[in-house]
Amino acid sequence: MVSKKKSSNESSLQRRIAELEQQIAEQTNLDRFRLVFEAAPNGIIVANESGRIAMVNQRAEKMFGYSREEFLKLSIDDLLPHRFRKNHSKYRGTYHSAPETREMGADRELFALKKNGTEFPVEIGLTPIPDHDELLIISSILDITERKNANAKMEFQAEILKNVSEAVFYLRPDGEILDWNEGAERVFGIAQEDAAGHNFFALLDEKTVEVFKNRLFPGVIEKGSASEVIRCQLRNGRDFFLRAKGTRLRQNRDDGFIICASDITEQKRLEAKIVSISENEQRRIGQDLHDDLCSQLSGIACITKAMETRFAQHQKEEFELMAKVSEMVSAAVTKTQKIAKGLIPAVLENQGLKSALEDLVARNREVYGVNCQLFHCNESIAAELPNATSIQLYRIAQEAINNAVKHSEAAKIEINLSETHDGRAKLSILDNGKGMPSDLVSAGLGLLTMRQRAEMIGADFEIQAKPKHGTEITCIVSTHPIIHE
Ligand SMILES: Nc1ncnc2c1ncn2[C@@H]1O[C@H](COP(=O)(O)OP(=O)(O)OP(=O)(O)O)[C@@H](O)[C@H]1O
Ligand SMILES: [Mg+2]
Repeated sequence: MVSKKKSSNESSLQRRIAELEQQIAEQTNLDRFRLVFEAAPNGIIVANESGRIAMVNQRAEKMFGYSREEFLKLSIDDLLPHRFRKNHSKYRGTYHSAPETREMGADRELFALKKNGTEFPVEIGLTPIPDHDELLIISSILDITERKNANAKMEFQAEILKNVSEAVFYLRPDGEILDWNEGAERVFGIAQEDAAGHNFFALLDEKTVEVFKNRLFPGVIEKGSASEVIRCQLRNGRDFFLRAKGTRLRQNRDDGFIICASDITEQKRLEAKIVSISENEQRRIGQDLHDDLCSQLSGIACITKAMETRFAQHQKEEFELMAKVSEMVSAAVTKTQKIAKGLIPAVLENQGLKSALEDLVARNREVYGVNCQLFHCNESIAAELPNATSIQLYRIAQEAINNAVKHSEAAKIEINLSETHDGRAKLSILDNGKGMPSDLVSAGLGLLTMRQRAEMIGADFEIQAKPKHGTEITCIVSTHPIIHE
Protein backbone atom coordinates (compact mmCIF):
# COMPACT_ATOMS: atom_id res chain seq x y z
CA MET A 1 0.00 0.00 0.00
CA VAL A 2 2.75 2.31 1.11
CA SER A 3 4.90 1.44 -1.89
CA LYS A 4 1.97 2.05 -4.33
CA LYS A 5 1.51 5.59 -2.93
CA LYS A 6 5.23 6.20 -3.09
CA SER A 7 5.45 5.25 -6.78
CA SER A 8 2.48 7.51 -7.71
CA ASN A 9 4.20 10.45 -5.91
CA GLU A 10 7.41 9.77 -7.87
CA SER A 11 5.70 9.75 -11.23
CA SER A 12 3.88 13.06 -10.55
CA LEU A 13 7.24 14.52 -9.49
CA GLN A 14 8.80 13.34 -12.75
CA ARG A 15 5.91 14.83 -14.73
CA ARG A 16 6.37 18.11 -12.93
CA ILE A 17 10.13 18.06 -13.65
CA ALA A 18 9.41 17.38 -17.36
CA GLU A 19 6.90 20.27 -17.42
CA LEU A 20 9.41 22.60 -15.83
CA GLU A 21 12.11 21.53 -18.29
CA GLN A 22 9.73 22.21 -21.17
CA GLN A 23 8.91 25.65 -19.73
CA ILE A 24 12.61 26.47 -19.38
CA ALA A 25 13.23 25.36 -22.98
CA GLU A 26 10.31 27.46 -24.22
CA GLN A 27 11.50 30.44 -22.18
CA THR A 28 15.03 30.07 -23.62
CA ASN A 29 13.61 29.94 -27.17
CA LEU A 30 11.50 33.01 -26.44
CA ASP A 31 14.51 34.92 -25.09
CA ARG A 32 16.52 34.01 -28.18
CA PHE A 33 13.66 35.08 -30.42
CA ARG A 34 13.41 38.43 -28.56
CA LEU A 35 17.12 39.05 -28.97
CA VAL A 36 17.00 38.39 -32.71
CA PHE A 37 13.79 40.39 -33.06
CA GLU A 38 15.20 43.43 -31.27
CA ALA A 39 18.59 43.32 -32.96
CA ALA A 40 17.17 42.99 -36.50
CA PRO A 41 18.47 45.74 -38.83
CA ASN A 42 15.02 46.12 -40.38
CA GLY A 43 12.02 47.62 -38.67
CA ILE A 44 9.66 44.76 -37.76
CA ILE A 45 5.96 45.30 -37.08
CA VAL A 46 3.55 42.48 -36.25
CA ALA A 47 -0.14 43.20 -36.84
CA ASN A 48 -3.33 41.14 -36.78
CA GLU A 49 -5.89 40.67 -39.54
CA SER A 50 -7.68 43.92 -38.78
CA GLY A 51 -4.37 45.78 -38.98
CA ARG A 52 -4.00 46.41 -35.24
CA ILE A 53 -0.33 46.51 -34.25
CA ALA A 54 0.66 43.85 -31.71
CA MET A 55 4.43 44.01 -31.56
CA VAL A 56 7.30 46.19 -32.83
CA ASN A 57 11.07 46.11 -32.51
CA GLN A 58 13.51 48.91 -31.60
CA ARG A 59 14.43 49.66 -35.21
CA ALA A 60 10.74 50.29 -36.04
CA GLU A 61 10.50 52.71 -33.07
CA LYS A 62 13.52 54.61 -34.36
CA MET A 63 12.32 54.56 -37.95
CA PHE A 64 8.81 55.91 -37.28
CA GLY A 65 9.42 57.97 -34.12
CA TYR A 66 6.64 56.28 -32.08
CA SER A 67 7.24 54.66 -28.69
CA ARG A 68 6.25 51.03 -28.19
CA GLU A 69 3.15 52.04 -26.19
CA GLU A 70 2.08 54.49 -28.91
CA PHE A 71 2.53 51.81 -31.58
CA LEU A 72 0.21 49.40 -29.75
CA LYS A 73 -2.62 51.93 -30.07
CA LEU A 74 -2.14 52.27 -33.85
CA SER A 75 -3.30 50.41 -36.92
CA ILE A 76 -0.79 49.53 -39.65
CA ASP A 77 -2.77 51.95 -41.89
CA ASP A 78 -1.69 54.84 -39.64
CA LEU A 79 1.87 54.28 -40.85
CA LEU A 80 0.96 55.03 -44.47
CA PRO A 81 0.65 58.46 -46.12
CA HIS A 82 -3.05 59.44 -46.28
CA ARG A 83 -3.30 58.98 -50.08
CA PHE A 84 -2.51 55.24 -49.78
CA ARG A 85 -4.79 54.36 -46.85
CA LYS A 86 -8.04 53.75 -48.73
CA ASN A 87 -6.50 51.19 -51.06
CA HIS A 88 -4.39 49.62 -48.36
CA SER A 89 -7.29 48.09 -46.41
CA LYS A 90 -8.43 46.53 -49.73
CA TYR A 91 -4.91 45.11 -50.37
CA ARG A 92 -4.83 43.82 -46.80
CA GLY A 93 -8.14 41.92 -47.36
CA THR A 94 -6.75 40.36 -50.56
CA TYR A 95 -3.58 39.33 -48.75
CA HIS A 96 -5.48 37.67 -45.89
CA SER A 97 -7.52 35.59 -48.32
CA ALA A 98 -4.26 34.12 -49.80
CA PRO A 99 -1.44 34.78 -47.33
CA GLU A 100 2.10 33.99 -48.44
CA THR A 101 5.64 35.21 -47.78
CA ARG A 102 6.37 37.90 -50.37
CA GLU A 103 7.51 41.43 -51.07
CA MET A 104 4.82 44.08 -50.73
CA GLY A 105 3.96 46.24 -53.77
CA ALA A 106 6.81 44.83 -55.86
CA ASP A 107 5.72 46.90 -58.86
CA ARG A 108 5.03 50.13 -56.92
CA GLU A 109 7.05 52.70 -55.01
CA LEU A 110 6.15 52.42 -51.35
CA PHE A 111 6.26 55.20 -48.79
CA ALA A 112 5.75 55.20 -45.03
CA LEU A 113 4.73 58.03 -42.69
CA LYS A 114 6.65 59.02 -39.56
CA LYS A 115 5.03 60.35 -36.42
CA ASN A 116 6.31 63.84 -37.33
CA GLY A 117 4.43 63.69 -40.66
CA THR A 118 7.41 63.18 -42.99
CA GLU A 119 7.34 60.46 -45.61
CA PHE A 120 10.17 58.11 -46.46
CA PRO A 121 10.59 55.45 -49.16
CA VAL A 122 10.51 51.83 -47.97
CA GLU A 123 10.76 48.24 -49.06
CA ILE A 124 8.48 45.83 -47.17
CA GLY A 125 8.54 42.03 -46.88
CA LEU A 126 5.39 40.27 -45.60
CA THR A 127 5.31 36.95 -43.71
CA PRO A 128 2.06 35.40 -42.40
CA ILE A 129 2.18 33.38 -39.13
CA PRO A 130 -0.85 31.57 -37.72
CA ASP A 131 -1.25 32.21 -34.00
CA HIS A 132 -3.96 30.10 -32.27
CA ASP A 133 -7.12 31.00 -34.15
CA GLU A 134 -5.92 34.19 -35.82
CA LEU A 135 -3.39 35.12 -38.50
CA LEU A 136 -0.59 37.54 -37.67
CA ILE A 137 1.37 39.35 -40.38
CA ILE A 138 5.02 40.25 -39.87
CA SER A 139 6.09 43.28 -41.90
CA SER A 140 9.83 43.70 -42.27
CA ILE A 141 10.51 47.31 -43.28
CA LEU A 142 13.67 48.73 -44.82
CA ASP A 143 14.19 52.51 -45.04
CA ILE A 144 15.65 53.01 -48.56
CA THR A 145 16.05 56.83 -48.41
CA GLU A 146 19.83 56.69 -48.65
CA ARG A 147 19.82 54.12 -51.42
CA LYS A 148 17.30 56.21 -53.40
CA ASN A 149 19.35 59.38 -52.89
CA ALA A 150 22.52 57.58 -53.99
CA ASN A 151 20.72 56.20 -57.06
CA ALA A 152 19.34 59.64 -57.93
CA LYS A 153 22.82 61.13 -57.58
CA MET A 154 24.29 58.42 -59.77
CA GLU A 155 21.62 58.96 -62.43
CA PHE A 156 22.29 62.71 -62.29
CA GLN A 157 26.03 62.19 -62.66
CA ALA A 158 25.53 59.69 -65.46
CA GLU A 159 23.37 62.26 -67.29
CA ILE A 160 26.07 64.93 -66.88
CA LEU A 161 28.72 62.48 -68.06
CA LYS A 162 26.62 61.64 -71.07
CA ASN A 163 26.20 65.28 -72.07
CA VAL A 164 29.65 66.75 -71.47
CA SER A 165 31.54 67.40 -74.68
CA GLU A 166 34.79 66.06 -73.20
CA ALA A 167 35.81 62.46 -73.56
CA VAL A 168 35.62 60.86 -70.11
CA PHE A 169 36.81 57.28 -69.74
CA TYR A 170 38.03 54.88 -67.08
CA LEU A 171 41.05 52.70 -67.83
CA ARG A 172 42.93 49.98 -66.04
CA PRO A 173 46.71 50.59 -65.94
CA ASP A 174 47.10 48.07 -68.80
CA GLY A 175 44.69 50.15 -70.93
CA GLU A 176 41.56 47.99 -70.61
CA ILE A 177 38.50 50.24 -70.99
CA LEU A 178 36.12 50.00 -68.02
CA ASP A 179 33.91 52.95 -68.91
CA TRP A 180 33.55 55.21 -71.95
CA ASN A 181 31.16 58.16 -72.38
CA GLU A 182 29.58 59.63 -75.52
CA GLY A 183 32.27 62.34 -75.58
CA ALA A 184 34.92 59.60 -75.89
CA GLU A 185 32.86 58.10 -78.69
CA ARG A 186 32.95 61.47 -80.51
CA VAL A 187 36.68 62.09 -79.94
CA PHE A 188 37.98 58.59 -80.73
CA GLY A 189 35.23 57.42 -83.09
CA ILE A 190 34.61 54.19 -81.15
CA ALA A 191 31.01 53.50 -80.05
CA GLN A 192 30.29 53.11 -76.34
CA GLU A 193 29.04 49.54 -76.75
CA ASP A 194 32.18 48.54 -78.71
CA ALA A 195 34.61 50.16 -76.28
CA ALA A 196 33.99 48.44 -72.92
CA GLY A 197 36.39 45.54 -72.37
CA HIS A 198 38.63 46.56 -75.29
CA ASN A 199 42.11 47.96 -74.87
CA PHE A 200 42.46 51.72 -75.29
CA PHE A 201 46.14 51.43 -76.22
CA ALA A 202 45.21 49.22 -79.19
CA LEU A 203 43.61 52.35 -80.75
CA LEU A 204 46.80 54.41 -80.54
CA ASP A 205 50.19 54.35 -82.21
CA GLU A 206 53.20 53.42 -80.08
CA LYS A 207 54.41 56.97 -79.41
CA THR A 208 51.01 58.08 -78.12
CA VAL A 209 50.80 54.99 -75.90
CA GLU A 210 54.21 55.92 -74.46
CA VAL A 211 52.93 59.38 -73.48
CA PHE A 212 50.05 57.81 -71.55
CA LYS A 213 52.18 55.07 -69.96
CA ASN A 214 55.38 56.99 -69.26
CA ARG A 215 54.17 60.52 -68.59
CA LEU A 216 50.47 60.83 -67.73
CA PHE A 217 50.01 57.70 -65.58
CA PRO A 218 53.25 58.14 -63.56
CA GLY A 219 52.30 61.83 -63.05
CA VAL A 220 48.91 60.76 -61.67
CA ILE A 221 50.49 58.15 -59.38
CA GLU A 222 53.01 60.68 -58.10
CA LYS A 223 50.80 63.75 -57.66
CA GLY A 224 47.22 62.40 -57.56
CA SER A 225 46.35 64.13 -60.82
CA ALA A 226 48.28 65.19 -63.90
CA SER A 227 47.68 66.93 -67.22
CA GLU A 228 49.32 66.56 -70.59
CA VAL A 229 48.84 68.04 -74.02
CA ILE A 230 49.20 64.99 -76.21
CA ARG A 231 49.62 64.73 -79.91
CA CYS A 232 47.35 61.76 -80.35
CA GLN A 233 47.94 59.52 -83.31
CA LEU A 234 45.39 56.75 -83.91
CA ARG A 235 46.31 53.49 -85.62
CA ASN A 236 43.77 54.32 -88.33
CA GLY A 237 45.97 57.29 -89.33
CA ARG A 238 43.89 60.12 -87.80
CA ASP A 239 45.85 62.51 -85.62
CA PHE A 240 44.78 65.35 -83.35
CA PHE A 241 45.80 67.21 -80.21
CA LEU A 242 44.32 66.17 -76.88
CA ARG A 243 44.41 68.01 -73.60
CA ALA A 244 44.12 65.13 -71.12
CA LYS A 245 43.76 65.22 -67.36
CA GLY A 246 44.09 62.01 -65.39
CA THR A 247 43.11 61.10 -61.83
CA ARG A 248 43.24 57.80 -59.98
CA LEU A 249 40.12 55.87 -59.00
CA ARG A 250 39.85 52.66 -57.03
CA GLN A 251 36.38 51.17 -57.38
CA ASN A 252 35.50 47.78 -55.92
CA ARG A 253 38.34 45.58 -57.13
CA ASP A 254 39.24 47.87 -60.07
CA ASP A 255 42.20 50.19 -59.78
CA GLY A 256 42.54 52.56 -62.67
CA PHE A 257 42.69 56.04 -64.16
CA ILE A 258 39.85 58.39 -65.00
CA ILE A 259 40.84 60.39 -68.07
CA CYS A 260 39.07 63.58 -69.02
CA ALA A 261 40.18 64.75 -72.44
CA SER A 262 39.23 67.30 -75.06
CA ASP A 263 40.22 67.60 -78.67
CA ILE A 264 42.10 70.91 -78.89
CA THR A 265 43.29 70.58 -82.48
CA GLU A 266 41.39 73.68 -83.57
CA GLN A 267 42.74 75.70 -80.63
CA LYS A 268 46.26 74.52 -81.48
CA ARG A 269 45.77 75.50 -85.10
CA LEU A 270 44.67 79.00 -84.07
CA GLU A 271 47.56 79.32 -81.62
CA ALA A 272 49.96 78.26 -84.34
CA LYS A 273 48.39 80.88 -86.60
CA ILE A 274 48.78 83.62 -83.95
CA VAL A 275 52.39 82.67 -83.37
CA SER A 276 53.11 82.57 -87.10
CA ILE A 277 51.40 85.97 -87.57
CA SER A 278 53.51 87.41 -84.76
CA GLU A 279 56.62 85.80 -86.27
CA ASN A 280 55.85 87.39 -89.63
CA GLU A 281 55.11 90.70 -87.95
CA GLN A 282 58.44 90.65 -86.15
CA ARG A 283 60.23 89.88 -89.39
CA ARG A 284 58.34 92.70 -91.17
CA ILE A 285 59.23 95.21 -88.44
CA GLY A 286 62.83 93.97 -88.58
CA GLN A 287 62.83 94.41 -92.35
CA ASP A 288 61.34 97.93 -92.07
CA LEU A 289 63.88 98.89 -89.41
CA HIS A 290 66.70 97.59 -91.54
CA ASP A 291 65.60 98.85 -94.96
CA ASP A 292 63.83 102.05 -93.97
CA LEU A 293 64.92 103.47 -90.61
CA CYS A 294 68.51 102.27 -90.90
CA SER A 295 68.94 103.76 -94.39
CA GLN A 296 67.35 107.07 -93.30
CA LEU A 297 69.64 107.18 -90.28
CA SER A 298 72.60 106.39 -92.55
CA GLY A 299 71.54 109.33 -94.76
CA ILE A 300 71.43 111.63 -91.71
CA ALA A 301 74.84 110.29 -90.68
CA CYS A 302 76.26 111.31 -94.11
CA ILE A 303 74.82 114.85 -93.83
CA THR A 304 76.13 115.30 -90.27
CA LYS A 305 79.55 114.08 -91.44
CA ALA A 306 79.52 116.65 -94.28
CA MET A 307 78.51 119.44 -91.88
CA GLU A 308 81.18 118.31 -89.44
CA THR A 309 83.79 118.72 -92.24
CA ARG A 310 82.46 122.20 -93.10
CA PHE A 311 82.55 123.39 -89.48
CA ALA A 312 86.03 121.88 -89.02
CA GLN A 313 87.90 124.90 -90.51
CA HIS A 314 86.30 128.01 -88.93
CA GLN A 315 83.67 127.16 -86.28
CA LYS A 316 85.26 125.05 -83.56
CA GLU A 317 82.21 124.95 -81.24
CA GLU A 318 79.80 123.93 -83.99
CA PHE A 319 82.35 121.39 -85.21
CA GLU A 320 82.52 119.68 -81.81
CA LEU A 321 78.72 119.68 -81.52
CA MET A 322 78.36 118.22 -85.00
CA ALA A 323 80.98 115.53 -84.26
CA LYS A 324 78.87 114.48 -81.25
CA VAL A 325 75.68 114.35 -83.35
CA SER A 326 77.55 112.25 -85.96
CA GLU A 327 78.71 109.84 -83.32
CA MET A 328 75.19 109.49 -81.87
CA VAL A 329 73.62 108.92 -85.27
CA SER A 330 76.22 106.21 -86.07
CA ALA A 331 75.49 104.54 -82.73
CA ALA A 332 71.74 104.73 -83.48
CA VAL A 333 72.36 103.05 -86.86
CA THR A 334 74.33 100.22 -85.23
CA LYS A 335 71.74 99.75 -82.50
CA THR A 336 68.84 99.71 -84.95
CA GLN A 337 70.68 97.20 -87.12
CA LYS A 338 71.16 94.95 -84.11
CA ILE A 339 67.50 95.21 -83.09
CA ALA A 340 66.49 94.44 -86.68
CA LYS A 341 68.80 91.43 -86.61
CA GLY A 342 67.05 90.13 -83.50
CA LEU A 343 63.71 90.44 -85.19
CA ILE A 344 64.93 88.55 -88.26
CA PRO A 345 66.89 85.60 -86.86
CA ALA A 346 68.87 85.07 -90.06
CA VAL A 347 71.71 83.45 -88.08
CA LEU A 348 69.29 80.79 -86.88
CA GLU A 349 68.30 79.97 -90.43
CA ASN A 350 71.86 79.99 -91.78
CA GLN A 351 73.98 78.69 -88.92
CA GLY A 352 71.59 76.93 -86.51
CA LEU A 353 70.39 77.32 -82.93
CA LYS A 354 73.78 77.37 -81.17
CA SER A 355 75.06 80.32 -83.25
CA ALA A 356 71.70 82.09 -82.94
CA LEU A 357 71.79 81.78 -79.12
CA GLU A 358 75.41 83.01 -79.07
CA ASP A 359 74.37 85.94 -81.23
CA LEU A 360 71.36 86.64 -78.99
CA VAL A 361 73.37 86.77 -75.74
CA ALA A 362 76.11 88.88 -77.37
CA ARG A 363 73.56 91.38 -78.68
CA ASN A 364 71.95 91.67 -75.24
CA ARG A 365 75.36 92.32 -73.69
CA GLU A 366 76.09 95.05 -76.25
CA VAL A 367 72.66 96.71 -76.45
CA TYR A 368 71.66 96.53 -72.77
CA GLY A 369 75.05 96.06 -71.13
CA VAL A 370 73.87 93.02 -69.13
CA ASN A 371 75.96 90.00 -68.15
CA CYS A 372 74.22 87.49 -70.41
CA GLN A 373 75.99 84.18 -71.18
CA LEU A 374 75.40 81.04 -73.19
CA PHE A 375 76.82 78.91 -70.39
CA HIS A 376 76.52 75.50 -72.02
CA CYS A 377 75.22 74.31 -75.37
CA ASN A 378 75.07 70.67 -76.42
CA GLU A 379 75.85 71.06 -80.12
CA SER A 380 74.65 67.66 -81.25
CA ILE A 381 71.19 68.02 -79.63
CA ALA A 382 70.96 71.57 -81.04
CA ALA A 383 71.74 70.23 -84.51
CA GLU A 384 69.14 67.45 -84.20
CA LEU A 385 66.25 69.86 -83.56
CA PRO A 386 63.89 70.49 -86.48
CA ASN A 387 63.77 74.10 -87.75
CA ALA A 388 60.24 74.68 -86.50
CA THR A 389 61.31 73.67 -82.98
CA SER A 390 64.53 75.73 -83.09
CA ILE A 391 62.71 78.93 -84.00
CA GLN A 392 60.26 78.52 -81.12
CA LEU A 393 63.09 77.78 -78.63
CA TYR A 394 64.95 80.83 -79.91
CA ARG A 395 61.88 83.06 -79.44
CA ILE A 396 61.30 81.63 -75.94
CA ALA A 397 64.92 82.38 -75.00
CA GLN A 398 64.58 85.87 -76.50
CA GLU A 399 61.44 86.73 -74.50
CA ALA A 400 62.84 85.18 -71.29
CA ILE A 401 66.00 87.29 -71.63
CA ASN A 402 63.90 90.41 -72.41
CA ASN A 403 61.89 89.77 -69.25
CA ALA A 404 64.99 89.20 -67.14
CA VAL A 405 66.48 92.47 -68.46
CA LYS A 406 63.23 94.44 -68.02
CA HIS A 407 61.88 93.07 -64.75
CA SER A 408 64.41 91.08 -62.72
CA GLU A 409 67.24 93.49 -61.83
CA ALA A 410 69.50 90.44 -62.26
CA ALA A 411 73.28 90.73 -62.28
CA LYS A 412 73.57 87.62 -64.44
CA ILE A 413 71.47 85.79 -67.03
CA GLU A 414 72.51 82.29 -68.03
CA ILE A 415 71.31 80.16 -70.97
CA ASN A 416 71.80 76.40 -71.18
CA LEU A 417 70.88 73.92 -73.86
CA SER A 418 71.42 70.32 -72.73
CA GLU A 419 70.19 66.79 -73.39
CA THR A 420 67.87 65.07 -70.90
CA HIS A 421 68.34 61.43 -69.86
CA ASP A 422 65.49 60.43 -72.21
CA GLY A 423 67.12 62.12 -75.22
CA ARG A 424 65.08 65.34 -75.30
CA ALA A 425 66.48 68.87 -75.56
CA LYS A 426 66.28 71.09 -72.47
CA LEU A 427 66.55 74.85 -72.80
CA SER A 428 66.85 76.87 -69.62
CA ILE A 429 67.08 80.60 -69.02
CA LEU A 430 68.12 81.43 -65.49
CA ASP A 431 68.48 84.85 -63.87
CA ASN A 432 69.63 85.69 -60.36
CA GLY A 433 67.23 88.63 -59.98
CA LYS A 434 64.37 89.37 -57.64
CA GLY A 435 62.13 86.53 -58.89
CA MET A 436 58.55 86.70 -60.05
CA PRO A 437 55.85 87.66 -57.55
CA SER A 438 53.77 84.64 -56.51
CA ASP A 439 50.52 86.60 -56.93
CA LEU A 440 51.41 87.75 -60.44
CA VAL A 441 48.62 89.49 -62.36
CA SER A 442 49.99 90.70 -65.66
CA ALA A 443 48.61 92.32 -68.73
CA GLY A 444 51.75 91.31 -70.61
CA LEU A 445 51.81 88.81 -73.42
CA GLY A 446 55.32 87.42 -73.06
CA LEU A 447 54.66 84.55 -70.63
CA LEU A 448 51.50 83.59 -72.47
CA THR A 449 53.22 83.51 -75.84
CA MET A 450 56.15 81.51 -74.45
CA ARG A 451 53.69 78.94 -73.13
CA GLN A 452 51.85 78.81 -76.44
CA ARG A 453 55.07 78.40 -78.36
CA ALA A 454 56.07 75.53 -76.04
CA GLU A 455 52.69 73.84 -76.46
CA MET A 456 52.92 74.18 -80.23
CA ILE A 457 56.10 72.12 -80.27
CA GLY A 458 54.79 69.68 -77.66
CA ALA A 459 57.31 70.87 -75.07
CA ASP A 460 57.05 70.73 -71.27
CA PHE A 461 57.24 74.33 -70.12
CA GLU A 462 57.94 75.37 -66.57
CA ILE A 463 58.57 78.62 -64.74
CA GLN A 464 60.30 78.34 -61.40
CA ALA A 465 60.16 81.70 -59.74
CA LYS A 466 61.48 82.00 -56.26
CA PRO A 467 61.03 85.51 -54.85
CA LYS A 468 64.49 87.02 -54.13
CA HIS A 469 66.21 84.01 -55.76
CA GLY A 470 65.64 84.67 -59.42
CA THR A 471 63.62 82.96 -62.10
CA GLU A 472 64.29 79.88 -64.20
CA ILE A 473 62.37 79.09 -67.34
CA THR A 474 62.75 75.59 -68.72
CA CYS A 475 61.46 74.05 -71.87
CA ILE A 476 61.95 70.35 -72.61
CA VAL A 477 61.19 69.19 -76.11
CA SER A 478 61.55 66.11 -78.25
CA THR A 479 63.85 66.22 -81.28
CA HIS A 480 61.12 64.60 -83.42
CA PRO A 481 59.41 66.75 -86.06
CA ILE A 482 56.15 68.38 -84.97
CA ILE A 483 52.86 68.69 -86.79
CA HIS A 484 50.83 71.88 -87.47
CA GLU A 485 53.88 74.01 -88.08
N1 LIG B 1 62.60 87.14 -65.04
C1 LIG B 1 61.67 87.83 -64.37
N2 LIG B 1 61.94 88.33 -63.14
C2 LIG B 1 61.01 89.02 -62.44
N3 LIG B 1 59.75 89.23 -62.88
C3 LIG B 1 59.41 88.75 -64.09
C4 LIG B 1 60.33 88.02 -64.89
N4 LIG B 1 59.71 87.65 -66.03
C5 LIG B 1 58.47 88.14 -65.94
N5 LIG B 1 58.26 88.79 -64.79
C6 LIG B 1 57.02 89.39 -64.30
O1 LIG B 1 55.97 88.79 -65.03
C7 LIG B 1 55.20 89.77 -65.70
C8 LIG B 1 54.66 89.19 -66.98
O2 LIG B 1 55.67 89.02 -67.95
P1 LIG B 1 55.26 89.07 -69.47
O3 LIG B 1 56.44 88.78 -70.29
O4 LIG B 1 54.04 88.20 -69.66
O5 LIG B 1 54.77 90.57 -69.65
P2 LIG B 1 55.62 91.89 -69.82
O6 LIG B 1 57.04 91.57 -69.98
O7 LIG B 1 55.23 92.78 -68.70
O8 LIG B 1 55.02 92.47 -71.16
P3 LIG B 1 55.32 91.99 -72.68
O9 LIG B 1 56.12 90.74 -72.60
O10 LIG B 1 53.97 91.79 -73.27
O11 LIG B 1 56.08 93.08 -73.30
C9 LIG B 1 56.12 90.94 -65.85
O12 LIG B 1 55.38 92.14 -65.96
C10 LIG B 1 56.93 90.87 -64.57
O13 LIG B 1 56.22 91.45 -63.50
MG1 LIG C 1 57.74 90.17 -71.40
